[in-house]
Amino acid sequence: MQILIFWAVVGVSVCGGSFSPPVVKISLDEPAEQRWAPLLKIFGKDFLQKAAADVIDTTVPKWVHLAIKPVVKALEKYVPQPYAGEIRGMASYYQSDISDVVLLNFAYEVSAFCTSIVAQNSNGNIYHGRNLDYPHDVLKNLTLDIMFIKNGEVAYRGTSFAGYVGLWTGQSANKFTVTGDQRNKGHWWENVISAFLLKSSPVSWLVRETLEEATDFQDAVQRLAKVPIITDVYYIVGGVHPKEGVVITRDRSGPADIWPLDWTMGQWYLVETNFDHWLPSPDHRRETAMKALNATGQSNINIRSLYQVLSVVPVCNSITVYTTVMSAASPAEYRTVVRTTCVDSI
Ligand SMILES: *[C@@H]1O[C@H](CO)[C@@H](O)[C@H](O)[C@H]1NC(C)=O
Ligand SMILES: *[C@@H]1O[C@H](CO)[C@@H](O)[C@H](O)[C@H]1NC(C)=O
Repeated sequence: MQILIFWAVVGVSVCGGSFSPPVVKISLDEPAEQRWAPLLKIFGKDFLQKAAADVIDTTVPKWVHLAIKPVVKALEKYVPQPYAGEIRGMASYYQSDISDVVLLNFAYEVSAFCTSIVAQNSNGNIYHGRNLDYPHDVLKNLTLDIMFIKNGEVAYRGTSFAGYVGLWTGQSANKFTVTGDQRNKGHWWENVISAFLLKSSPVSWLVRETLEEATDFQDAVQRLAKVPIITDVYYIVGGVHPKEGVVITRDRSGPADIWPLDWTMGQWYLVETNFDHWLPSPDHRRETAMKALNATGQSNINIRSLYQVLSVVPVCNSITVYTTVMSAASPAEYRTVVRTTCVDSI
């Protein structure tokens, strides 16, 4: 199934320039049901309804969609706040079946392939970048940069898709940056069951909560390592001080491995794709990214050069939706580019 979708997407030629996604401000001071209303100014009802239907139709087999609908509807009662309110609000603006919006949030949850890199340059500055790969072109038009506002100020920011309340990519200014990469592809409906029976968080909700609550890099790493989540994942975290870079390999219940930047070994970057770092990689993304980082050199690492590393094929590939590059110590440098080609630069 995944393979078929993959090749169908590869067959579509993409051309034209890459672009910056729209930026939306979401106020956490507003009630959960109302805070996503600004989305309506960017994405019309018809467009979003059709896009959501496209994503669901290609990721969720029809029979599962039908079978799961009443179950998802019942589960909606058990979705914790603020997500339940945010999802309810979204369903109401877009006049969509709430079970489809819940489903959409879980459909994205399981199908993200990715490459994340955290690196320290010779001046001790930490840079963090990621490609998010997903076998559905329509997500390019749904990508958003979101500023979450609290007490009138940006509390944290992230990159996501319209209709989705979690974050796979985010930055808490002057504290840390975080990305998530998928590990082990379970069936998403198993994750739904696990979410509500075991009362665990979806991995992208834990990212958002960490961005909202963690006081610094160490605190973020502890939360991302420990809090139970519904499926395995890799969390990549960058801080603001030298040596603050880590890949956390997660099992549902806790950390399977914690892999920090290692100075005694001269290891100034970490590359995580979708495979455990201690095992061989069955595709070429990891090795290609490492080769490109080696060729760039530690003294030349910055936002632009990291973007170039993330542009090398097959690190960037036909299903790459967006690239984000960021550095928590220089929060204004945060940059997301929606990819229609891998040969551009910033
Ligand atoms: C995305 O939007 C552009 C411009 O509006 C449009 O040409 C393109 O067909 C859309 N792509 C998808 C996959 O919906
Ligand atoms: C990158 O450089 C390191 C350190 O010199 C070396 O151990 C590693 O094999 C290189 N990796 C690639 C893919 O070139």
